[in-house]
Amino acid sequence: MAFFQWDPSYSVNIRQLDSDHKKLIDLVNTLHEAMKAGKAKDVLMAIFTDLETYTKTHFANEERLLEQHRFPGLIQQQMEHRMFVQKVAEQKKVFEETHISTAMPIMNFLMEWLKKHILNSDKKYGAFLSQKGVK
Ligand SMILES: [Fe+2]
Repeated sequence: MAFFQWDPSYSVNIRQLDSDHKKLIDLVNTLHEAMKAGKAKDVLMAIFTDLETYTKTHFANEERLLEQHRFPGLIQQQMEHRMFVQKVAEQKKVFEETHISTAMPIMNFLMEWLKKHILNSDKKYGAFLSQKGVK
């Protein structure tokens, strides 16, 4: 069983967004596996790059959909996304400059943020968009 397991309680009822969330969760699992093998330092840069790539597309898609359907919590979503992007960029910079592996706090941050964001914020638009017939 994966360290951070996606389960139906995380579903926002929109296939593409669920699949994006699974990809993000997988990155946490990749980092966890690498940590267990003592190779966190080797994968951290790739994790940061993947995080930047995935979140760029995922957050943009999510926000576009919320905008299209005039979801009232759009601003809150945008703020949370921006703070996440900023935090990841900061942590990447620290790693680039120091090359000190800070995998554990990074992994915990990613996991906690994703859990909290999906379960509290994303679930809200899930119900909203479902009512509008978005799948
Ligand atoms: Fe979101």
